Amino acid sequence: MKKYYGFILLAALVMILVFVYNGGFSNPFAPKDDTQFSTHLYAKFQAKSCLGCHDYFEKKLGGLSFTTHVEHTAEKCVECHKQEVTGFLIPEDWFARPGLYTSAMDAKETCEAIKVGLHAQFKHKNRLAKDLAQHLFESPRVLWGIAGATPNSGRLPEGQIEKGLVQGGLAEWKTQVTLWIQGGMKCD
Ligand code: HEC
Ligand code: HEC
Repeated sequence: MKKYYGFILLAALVMILVFVYNGGFSNPFAPKDDTQFSTHLYAKFQAKSCLGCHDYFEKKLGGLSFTTHVEHTAEKCVECHKQEVTGFLIPEDWFARPGLYTSAMDAKETCEAIKVGLHAQFKHKNRLAKDLAQHLFESPRVLWGIAGATPNSGRLPEGQIEKGLVQGGLAEWKTQVTLWIQGGMKCD
């Protein structure tokens, strides 16, 4: 046993160093930073109602275009996701495309992908803030994905209902998105 003491001591020292390096215990009473994307929004962006479309063309993620929706062209979407189903003012707003944030992304990646998707690198940050707010508060697709945001939120063809909607209601969504945008749209 004695011959292991040195090793055990060394291991303990390494663990203490790693602990200190990582900042020790995080204070569980510290208030969460409401301006970070990861605090409230990431979990909401991971709702199934958003990911059905955002993963639509992702084979590895089981996107619908490879499962139940093979060969549905863009023209066809509205034949089933009709206006009386989606409640959209412009029925053709029901569509999906590749190159968006997906379920495989962590909070930081999602946050950055959203900005790329809205061409952030070419815009003044005030312009980006406006575009983000407009998209997240007015896009009929986003509103469809939030429970209770519209009478048709979550409605699918054949009388089906998407159950994995963004929870917490529209008011909470608006508050949390606003805090993130006004806080500088931080991704860390
Ligand atoms: C009916 C399909 C559909 C649903 C449902 C949907 N989206 Fe999207 N989303 C899209 C499409 C398509 C675009 C690209 C819009 C364009 O090209 O004009 C997009 C773009 C976005 C963007 C901007 C760019 C990017 O890379 O992501 C954000 C942010 C976004 N959606 C968030 C959401 C959130 C949050 C939800 C759920 C509350 C949601 N979407 C639900 C289809 C959808
Ligand atoms: C032939 C009818 C039909 C067509 C065409 C069709 N869908 Fe669907 N879609 C359905 C049905 C039924 C469901 C519910 C069952 C399921 O998930 O397959 C559904 C579900 C979905 C969902 C899942 C939503 C969720 O939250 O679970 C998405 C996203 C979707 N469709 C997008 C599209 C897009 C985009 C198109 C066009 C490219 C399209 N659909 C074309 C019938 C259709």
